[in-house]
Amino acid sequence: MLSGKRVLLIVGGGIAACKTPELARLIRKAGGHVRVILTKAGAEFVTPLTLASLTGEKVHDALFSLTDEIEMGHIELSRSADLVVVAPATADLMAKAAHGLANDLASTALLATDKPVLMAPAMNVRMWLNPATRRNIATLRDDGISFIGPDEGEMACGEYGPGRMAEPAAILATIEAHFVREVAPKPLAGKHVLITAGPTHEPIDPVRYIANRSSGKQGYALAEAARDSGARVTLVSGPVTLPAPAGIRTIRVETAREMDEAVEQALPADIAIFAAAVADWRVADESAEKRKKDGNAIPPLQLTENPDILARISRHGSKRPCLVVGFAAETGKVLEHAKAKFARKGCDLLVANDVSPASGVMGGDRNRVHLVSPEGVESLPEMGKGEVATALIARFAERLARPA
Ligand code: CTP
Repeated sequence: MLSGKRVLLIVGGGIAACKTPELARLIRKAGGHVRVILTKAGAEFVTPLTLASLTGEKVHDALFSLTDEIEMGHIELSRSADLVVVAPATADLMAKAAHGLANDLASTALLATDKPVLMAPAMNVRMWLNPATRRNIATLRDDGISFIGPDEGEMACGEYGPGRMAEPAAILATIEAHFVREVAPKPLAGKHVLITAGPTHEPIDPVRYIANRSSGKQGYALAEAARDSGARVTLVSGPVTLPAPAGIRTIRVETAREMDEAVEQALPADIAIFAAAVADWRVADESAEKRKKDGNAIPPLQLTENPDILARISRHGSKRPCLVVGFAAETGKVLEHAKAKFARKGCDLLVANDVSPASGVMGGDRNRVHLVSPEGVESLPEMGKGEVATALIARFAERLARPA
């Protein structure tokens, strides 16, 4: 799988460094070459000799090494790889990378590289959850760095939670997936894809809101599939717990009106996919103060209609994207409702799915969708949301390429 691929493995200082000889062995077994940069702290947990024996290469550990600079300068080291893997990515290494520090060989290589970077974080659970680490991860994701893990479980320090480095086999699978994606066709190269995802929250007062059960998973998977097809992607996301996907411009909003505004700002786009579960109504008389129980009278909620973003963009004059795709989340008579919605919304394609509680789609990882087009309905088999996204994006790309 990794035949001829060159991986630069940066080993940080943590107990998980003990797993890196196994990772190096697996990469080599899969046909890849491994060069290692070992930090000073990493060398406390794994010896240069072990890594050199397993990789068949000299292990690099010093920024100012005369021999190393003559044999292979640190800049060249960071660029001669096809992929840079940081395992374990410690809180310290991530903080340095997020802020562009370069005071040792590992951080200098990360700053100097022009190659994709995959990090496998490992640290104590409190360090992982610390706001400083959260900020650094968000920055690194925005910079296009990918992550695997950490896993949740018992830690070497005795605490329990997220922070264990992903297992070497899982890191290898991610490395392989990276190279598979790299050679995959890029039918959306040069195209801008705009996607809405997740629910919207419509405030009742400063502490309460109206929401729905959308997790955003299908919309985020579509954004990743569009990115992997070569598109520049803008993801306008309602409140979800998912992290911003690497290499995707993610704009976080709360309400339908904010989503509408963010969509407008993101135009022009070649394809617009409206996967968000936008609240149809908002509270007309949103209270600036928390509503209080007032004697026995139950306060009525006066609702007013939200802008229909999909319908508006479908009828947008000059800025209408070439392909506008709507979604229909239904709990019964799925195809009947979907066909009516397709006719009503003015979009080019509509993806319908059954979100009744028995389907497990809302919040779940699998989905079964029906693609409604002017030619009829194509029903796809039940698949993981990632596979559904790949299948849908391939169809959208094919449609975009069709002569008008
Ligand atoms: N949508 C939108 N803006 C809204 C409501 C919906 O952009 N204010 C989009 C959704 O993102 C989805 C499609 O319209 O792509 C269908 O959403 P849905 O809520 O199922 O449709 P409704 O118009 O609300 O129809 P109904 O109430 O009959 O289900």
